[in-house]
Amino acid sequence: MIIPVILSGGSGTRLWPLSRVQYPKQLLALAGEKTMLQETVARLEKIADTGPVYCVCNEDHRFMVAEQLRQVTDDMGGIILEPVGRNTAPAAAVAALRVQEEYPGATMLLLPADHVIQDTCAFVKAVTLGNKAAEEGVLVTFGIVPEAPETGYGYIRAAVQEGKEYGMYPVEKFVEKPDRETAEKYVKSGEYYWNSGMFLFKASRYLEEIEAQAPEIYEASRAALEKATEDLDFLRLDKEVFAACPSDSIDYAVMEKTAHAVVVPLDAGWSDVGAWSALWKVKGQDPSGNVTKGDVQLLDVKDSYIHASGRIVAAVGLSDHVIVETPDAVLVASKDRVQDVKTIVERLKSEG
Ligand code: GDD
Ligand code: MG
Repeated sequence: MIIPVILSGGSGTRLWPLSRVQYPKQLLALAGEKTMLQETVARLEKIADTGPVYCVCNEDHRFMVAEQLRQVTDDMGGIILEPVGRNTAPAAAVAALRVQEEYPGATMLLLPADHVIQDTCAFVKAVTLGNKAAEEGVLVTFGIVPEAPETGYGYIRAAVQEGKEYGMYPVEKFVEKPDRETAEKYVKSGEYYWNSGMFLFKASRYLEEIEAQAPEIYEASRAALEKATEDLDFLRLDKEVFAACPSDSIDYAVMEKTAHAVVVPLDAGWSDVGAWSALWKVKGQDPSGNVTKGDVQLLDVKDSYIHASGRIVAAVGLSDHVIVETPDAVLVASKDRVQDVKTIVERLKSEG
């Protein structure tokens, strides 16, 4: 059985002003009718032999997460609440401990709550294929053919000679967030995939790895779960114990170190919607190359993303821009500078 575990702890700062700490991007309907969290669950429908859905999120988001999940599934395993974020390695460890307890021997499909996948069919195929390897005890990653030397991704070097007949390859090397120069080298070589950030493994297998590679994370996660309190669908981790857990991502803590990983190539219109330009790219553009939402009036505008939340937004004579209107903030940016929205958010934070 495959147990889906959704990680919903990020804050998506580059999608400001719509994405906020209290209302992060995964809880917004940015790319479709449903929110990104809901799309993540909906995408699982066609995968055979899936069990109840688990979600790990920040305590502050619990009611929104619970309500959104309730709208799309009646098969909830539980919502694990983190009193503080400790990045993905502990979040996955806590979930794995729980899954292993409730569904011993199951594999666990670890999914970020904030990705867009256009071709659900290709995604389902990749997961189904990967699960065969996961059941045999390896850690499965899903590899995307890189488009640019992005430094915010993990890079996977696949042993392409060795796995052809299985449609997946042993991972020779996993490098998380390389510097620009290295990323350029990797992309040029054509030998690397981007790590999609989704993983599939037996819960027990992940626990063995984390115990070996990062024993402090394993111990703190175990202890925080042992002392957790349960109410309704929520499982609240012990605050003091979990706060003392080292903060690290699964990529650095486990994937860079393990010798037992494979990569399943994934060609499914994947995007982690890191910034507004990514949303413009994945959404259907009109003949002028624009993507709009809400009440928008355009004249001679092209290749732009314009999002009106409440008021009318009008634009004239623009190209390659992003405009996002919300009740208390408006963003106007050049499309090739949207990564820098993060700087504005940081400035706003420091100014209180
Ligand atoms: N529950 C929980 N708790 N979830 C978390 C936490 C946490 O403390 N931190 C992050 N998450 C969630 C985020 O919401 C997101 O859905 C997912 O885990 C991945 O975290 P990111 O912070 O977005 O990671 P990243 O984008 O820097 O890097 C990862 O994803 C890339 C692809 O998008 C890595 O796996 C890279 O290797 C990968 O290329
Ligand atoms: Mg991310």
